[in-house]
Amino acid sequence: MSERQNGLPEDQIWPEPDLLYSDTVRELHAVIESDWDSLRQSACQTAAGRALWKHVVHDPLAGLLAGETYLKSFYEKIKKDRLNNAREVSGVILAVRTLWFDTKLEAAISSFGGAAQVVLLGAGMDARAYRLCCLKDSDVYEVDFCDVLQMKNSILRAAMESTSERQQLMVTAKSLNTVAADIRDNDWLKKLQIAGFVPEKSTVWILEGILYYLSHSQAMEVLKTIAHSCTLARTVLLADFMNKQSTTLSSSVFHFYSDWPDHLLPSLGFSDVKLSQIGDPDAEYGLLHDPLNLFNKLRSLPRSLQTHPDDGKPCCRLYLVQASGSPNQTIS
Ligand SMILES: C[S@@+](CC[C@H](N)C(=O)[O-])C[C@H]1O[C@@H](n2cnc3c(N)ncnc32)[C@H](O)[C@@H]1O
Repeated sequence: MSERQNGLPEDQIWPEPDLLYSDTVRELHAVIESDWDSLRQSACQTAAGRALWKHVVHDPLAGLLAGETYLKSFYEKIKKDRLNNAREVSGVILAVRTLWFDTKLEAAISSFGGAAQVVLLGAGMDARAYRLCCLKDSDVYEVDFCDVLQMKNSILRAAMESTSERQQLMVTAKSLNTVAADIRDNDWLKKLQIAGFVPEKSTVWILEGILYYLSHSQAMEVLKTIAHSCTLARTVLLADFMNKQSTTLSSSVFHFYSDWPDHLLPSLGFSDVKLSQIGDPDAEYGLLHDPLNLFNKLRSLPRSLQTHPDDGKPCCRLYLVQASGSPNQTIS
């Protein structure tokens, strides 16, 4: 099979995802479309991206959790990009981001001897607890709004009742604990602990597609809370950050940004901060060969640049950041 520069199979018609849909699942998705705000619906949009990049992202539940409407609209964008011979096809950021978080999570668990607590803040329709074997000895905590977690559970239960292929609906993690909480409030850590989280145990924190939905002060509070946990246990933080220009893409939705998360996190007490951009060697996964695609052009420019020298367009960046901490370090 020939590969185009944009990482999509050339001679394969873009596959419709395998759907595990029953009437009940469709009715549940209709509620999401009619009742949920855009913040909550973003969970389905990201799942749709993962489902449609299934030739590189292994997430068999993504299509089911995304729902047909989000799948179709994402599919149309991809089709259009392919027709236009786009250098950056819709969803490539999501695919790279998912693969980056998967790879770093697996490495972190392994560095902890194969077992840890894994906390997904703003878990949405993430299905890592169902799809990653590296979590088999780890306790997973999914934190999100109550209605999001309840809906996810209802969709998975409905699918379970309507399919004979139950294997993919089984949790692969040692345990999966859901925590209904708003992380803008100051009681989410307490709720996490009530669900079984132990602050003194090694923990990987996954903040994927969440920080920029918070205000600056809310995001800083969340990061400080996690930084404090470094004083109690070995901790790895995996998070994506928008730079300032990225938040202007939708100023009503995106708020928190950091142009220099690799400076911000050490100031909070994290160490070993590693920052990658989409297209860097550890954030490429064979999907971004073309040196002229937007991500490759952007990452070769100094990060201090706010506008692109070629066209004056804003330099919108997404940083993938890993940081760690342990009780041996001091928090400033
Ligand atoms: C873009 S989705 C990302 C979901 C998931 N992390 C992923 O990558 O697929 C953002 C998620 O964060 C959740 N979220 C946003 N603000 C939140 C808050 N204040 N407290 C808890 N969850 C929140 C939303 O409900 C949604 O599920």
